Amino acid sequence: MLHECMDALDVKNGGIYVDGTAGGGGHSSEIAKHMGTGRLISIDRDADAIAACEARLSPFGGVTLVCDNYRNLSAILSSLGIENGSVDGIMFDLGVSSHQIDTVERGFSYSAKEDAPLDMRMSREDKLTAYDVVNGYSESELSRIISEYGEERFASRIARAIVNARADSPIKTTRELSELVKSAVPAASVEHGSHPAKRTFQAIRIEVNGELDGIEPALRAAVDALRPGGRLAVITFHSLEDRIVKSVFAELARGCTCPSDFPVCVCGNKPKIKLVNRKPITAGADEIKYNPRSKSAKLRAAEKL
Ligand SMILES: C[S@@+](CC[C@H](N)C(=O)[O-])C[C@H]1O[C@@H](n2cnc3c(N)ncnc32)[C@H](O)[C@@H]1O
Repeated sequence: MLHECMDALDVKNGGIYVDGTAGGGGHSSEIAKHMGTGRLISIDRDADAIAACEARLSPFGGVTLVCDNYRNLSAILSSLGIENGSVDGIMFDLGVSSHQIDTVERGFSYSAKEDAPLDMRMSREDKLTAYDVVNGYSESELSRIISEYGEERFASRIARAIVNARADSPIKTTRELSELVKSAVPAASVEHGSHPAKRTFQAIRIEVNGELDGIEPALRAAVDALRPGGRLAVITFHSLEDRIVKSVFAELARGCTCPSDFPVCVCGNKPKIKLVNRKPITAGADEIKYNPRSKSAKLRAAEKL
């Protein structure tokens, strides 16, 4: 989705750009390449990602790296002297990075081939870990999270299995959790489809990092930060994220929030953005072939009015 995202951002020489999810710096370096004398603020809550970006973005001038949560976007920009209404383009590539998943000791991977402590924190400064969720949450909380954030139909069976297992001794590692989930779901569902622990790991990761909570405030702050004509591009990886982006974009593009049976508008809200594309852009067959994780990616873009 790199080229599609760059097209949506429409990077111009001399502009001010923000990458809210710098990760390994792939999108940031592409922006830096095209912005000429411009300025790029690359944000990530993961100190490892910021370190990777330091190396990758060092050839470019005008880049500022910030280790912080994108939900603090307004404060970050204001601390850098960037006023609301002055930014040319902002992007978010939401979720977990390949680097985080592939770094075994971070505890994101459900692969039973590898083992690691149950961590899953994107920022090591955060207190809550996957261990705390798995060993500390009640059965009903676990069931709700696994069902809601993992969209897992066997959530209650998995929650019950976790609570039963931890009554003997705490569940400490990714392999223990992965095997436990596998044994809790019907054998037929293990044989067909994706890894049986995939949805549970996604759910716990989302809970640990409060991933869904920050999206809406960050999108609203981003729209405020953009200049008229500035672009906002957001890549999501699952329907929970996409639903939030779709609904915030729709509300900001509609403006008026009065009930449809009101004869005249009384809220006075005006549209703040227009959608660049009605339907989300998805990865092409070629990209899916060399990067299978892009299969579920969706790109939505908007322009500030
Ligand atoms: C899919 S990766 C981004 C990959 C990046 N576009 C690239 O080209 O390498 C998502 C990144 O967003 C970061 N992230 C997730 N939630 C965040 C948040 N609330 N604030 C800041 N960074 C966040 C993660 O740490 C991760 O590095």
